[in-house]
Amino acid sequence: MNFCVSLFVVLCCVPFFEATASDVGPVSFVPQDSKALDYGLIVHEDQLLNENVSHAADSKCTCTDGRCVTRCRKSSWTTEGGCMGTETVCECNPEYGLFNSTSCKACECGRGINCTFMVLSGEVFSKKCLCPEGYHGGDSYPCELNCDDDHPCQNGGTCNAGTCMCKRGTSGVFCEEVFWCKSQCKNRLTVDCVYNQEQEYFDCICKDSSLLYDYREEICKPCQCGNGTCKYVGIHDWHCDCAPGHKEFEGKCKPCECSENGTCEFDGKGLKVCKCKPGYAPRIGICQRCGVHNGTEIECGTEKNTKSCRCPKGQQDVNGVCEDVDMCKDSDPCHHLSTKCVVIDGEIACQCRPGYVAKDNRIEPGQPCEDLDECVHSDECSKNKDTKCVNLPGSYKCECLPGYEPENMKADTRDTQCKGHKDAWMPAGVVLAVVIALLAVGVAVIAIKARRG
Ligand SMILES: *[C@@H]1O[C@H](CO)[C@@H](O)[C@H](O)[C@H]1NC(C)=O
Ligand SMILES: *[C@@H]1O[C@H](CO)[C@@H](O)[C@H](O)[C@H]1NC(C)=O
Ligand SMILES: *[C@@H]1O[C@H](CO)[C@@H](O)[C@H](O)[C@H]1NC(C)=O
Ligand SMILES: *[C@@H]1O[C@H](CO)[C@@H](O)[C@H](O)[C@H]1NC(C)=O
Ligand SMILES: *[C@@H]1O[C@H](CO)[C@@H](O)[C@H](O)[C@H]1NC(C)=O
Ligand SMILES: *[C@@H]1O[C@H](CO)[C@@H](O)[C@H](O)[C@H]1NC(C)=O
Repeated sequence: MNFCVSLFVVLCCVPFFEATASDVGPVSFVPQDSKALDYGLIVHEDQLLNENVSHAADSKCTCTDGRCVTRCRKSSWTTEGGCMGTETVCECNPEYGLFNSTSCKACECGRGINCTFMVLSGEVFSKKCLCPEGYHGGDSYPCELNCDDDHPCQNGGTCNAGTCMCKRGTSGVFCEEVFWCKSQCKNRLTVDCVYNQEQEYFDCICKDSSLLYDYREEICKPCQCGNGTCKYVGIHDWHCDCAPGHKEFEGKCKPCECSENGTCEFDGKGLKVCKCKPGYAPRIGICQRCGVHNGTEIECGTEKNTKSCRCPKGQQDVNGVCEDVDMCKDSDPCHHLSTKCVVIDGEIACQCRPGYVAKDNRIEPGQPCEDLDECVHSDECSKNKDTKCVNLPGSYKCECLPGYEPENMKADTRDTQCKGHKDAWMPAGVVLAVVIALLAVGVAVIAIKARRG
């Protein structure tokens, strides 16, 4: 008998176990056309007690959720195959186990699986699920199909001796249930809820792969990054992978560039902030070099978001560039006519103007320099013919000698070239000749008149 049951299981049940991983569990031995045998897993107490009580022809037999069968009593078989005596017993419906001699009880071990009960006293009993091969569980637990290569664990679960060890947040025989997916990812017509094995959490993935799921608004949205692409990062968050020269601010790629010598960031209000390398500071939107003074890098930093240079002595920050301070412009202590104000190493000094000389090389502020008599110290005009040198305050001029006049009127007076007056005498000579001629004519006329008269 036991052998026959086992054989039945092997022959009849094996084909039914070829359920796919997603189609777990329901394995039925019940013929399709017989609704009568299709018992649900849950059988109500009142049904158990009050219904489907089968009475055998032998009116003494009662069998709740089963039927009375008359069979040959154990060890009553004759060697010839006959039966010496029969008994009428209660045989339970499939998925039911014999509870006591007159009553069967639902097994709740899984579809098509029978069980045995052991009643200790009254309502206290133990159950043993008769799990077929390829299943695990048993005792009071329902039978579960073993995991194996053909029935792998899902959602990152690992198969351990036929049992799936599920990752956090997943459950089910094959870890097929994702806890959050019962309630998350609204609008399943457009959104799939999937387990994220890495994060051990769930993801809502839009069926339209060009869209992204916004977990706050719980809708699928197009990527708004602009000059960049949307990219999932961490848990339920996506960021913009922005194009070069752009940085994300509030889900959009905005231009952000500080040159190669700094990095660009946005402050909380979306204003660009340049973080410059040492020796660089932001100016006109990019990191600029602070400058070099006497071979060393000028220190600079940022004040009120603009470049500010710590300029060396004698220099000042002019729009982020160190420029010499024009100290003479603010206060010129020098004697104006003969000296001029200069800044040397950040200090004001007075220098003689050209054409003036100091007694010694040091000139105190306000002190005049002495006029240099160029005509004495050198022969400045000697290269100009027919001139003489005339000293002037701070300068000199070359003047034509008497009888000469300047040839190049437009030139610098120090470059005067002169020419003689000879050409100027010519017209005077002609006039003189004419006058003499007229005089001669006059004298002649007088002489002729005197002779006649
Ligand atoms: C009792 O069992 C018979 C078949 O044996 C079935 O047709 C009937 O529906 C059952 N009754 C109830 C109330 O479940
Ligand atoms: C369960 O019990 C029924 C009889 O009630 C029997 O026909 C069937 O083969 C059993 N199923 C298994 C899997 O042993
Ligand atoms: C068998 O069990 C049923 C259900 O628990 C109970 O109603 C019935 O009285 C029991 N019969 C015997 C003979 O113990
Ligand atoms: C991308 O950037 C370029 C130049 O920076 C700009 O002209 C263009 O409008 C930007 N495109 C978008 C979609 O923002
Ligand atoms: C950045 O620094 C390097 C090295 O000092 C320099 O050659 C380059 O011109 C700088 N770039 C800008 C945009 O200032
Ligand atoms: C310039 O640098 C040299 C050597 O680094 C130093 O000796 C000199 O004092 C510096 N001059 C000024 C004006 O800082």
